[in-house]
Amino acid sequence: MSKKVRKAVFPAAGLGTRFLPATKAQPKEMLPIVDKPIIQYGVEEAMAAGCDQIVMITGRGKQAIEDHFDVSYELESMLAERKKTDLLEIVRHISDMIHVAYVRQKEALGLGHAVLTARELVGDEPFAVLLADDVIDAEVPCLKQLIQVYEKTQCSVIAVQQIDGPSISSYGVLKAKPVEGSNGKLFEIEDLVEKPKAEQAPSNLAIIGRYILTPTIFEELEKTQTGAGGELQLTDGMRRLLKREKIYGYVFDGKRHDAGDKLGFLKATVEFALKRPDLREPFLRYLKQLGL
Ligand code: G1P
Repeated sequence: MSKKVRKAVFPAAGLGTRFLPATKAQPKEMLPIVDKPIIQYGVEEAMAAGCDQIVMITGRGKQAIEDHFDVSYELESMLAERKKTDLLEIVRHISDMIHVAYVRQKEALGLGHAVLTARELVGDEPFAVLLADDVIDAEVPCLKQLIQVYEKTQCSVIAVQQIDGPSISSYGVLKAKPVEGSNGKLFEIEDLVEKPKAEQAPSNLAIIGRYILTPTIFEELEKTQTGAGGELQLTDGMRRLLKREKIYGYVFDGKRHDAGDKLGFLKATVEFALKRPDLREPFLRYLKQLGL
């Protein structure tokens, strides 16, 4: 019998060097887009896709993430006393949201190593991996789109986006053939390469930080050697997995923001602010009067 995707793994032990000095003493996952930390966007997406357990891979200096998803008694009683019921609801919603388990990645040895750290908590079932840096705005949550593909194929499936030009070298890249009848959205993967030189990229299909993986990936990650950047790469683990099982790439519907990059973060902030009913009008007025 096929198993449901219930668990969502969030690798969150990275050092966030791209955002220094903001990330010197706080996790990059806690940087807010408008008023919500980027990690919460990912957790809400996982829940909307039907996951009911979060596995957060953290490391030193990541306490704020645990506190964020925990109950804050002092804050709640202060808000209750002052009758700030709407704020109280927002704050309670975060801790009521979902069960979160934490596991420490003692050293930042790469994304593949982070995923391997979750092995015991995930067990023998298919699971999701979400990279919080990739904030995806979509009518149907991106992870839900992938789960729908998984349910049909019973194979690992990863989110992909077409990236043209030299920035392809910042991604894992697919060599893949389109699946007939999928309107160019579903690809059967033939090979994957992590951060190739632009001229050596096998296609313009880049891996975006949403994955559904079968538990076989753990066996393969254990045997995977360090790769690009001296790290144990998830892409290399999937490359081994490919010898045992099919893997699909899915060109999802939606807009992805690279919130781990300064410009990407600014763009996401502007776009999410413009979608907020309470901010849209005054923010638009402000932007217009800048006369750019
Ligand atoms: C990671 C993955 C890469 C993927 C990217 C998507 O890289 O290793 O394959 O394309 O996420 O955001 P990172 O951006 O963490 O270096």
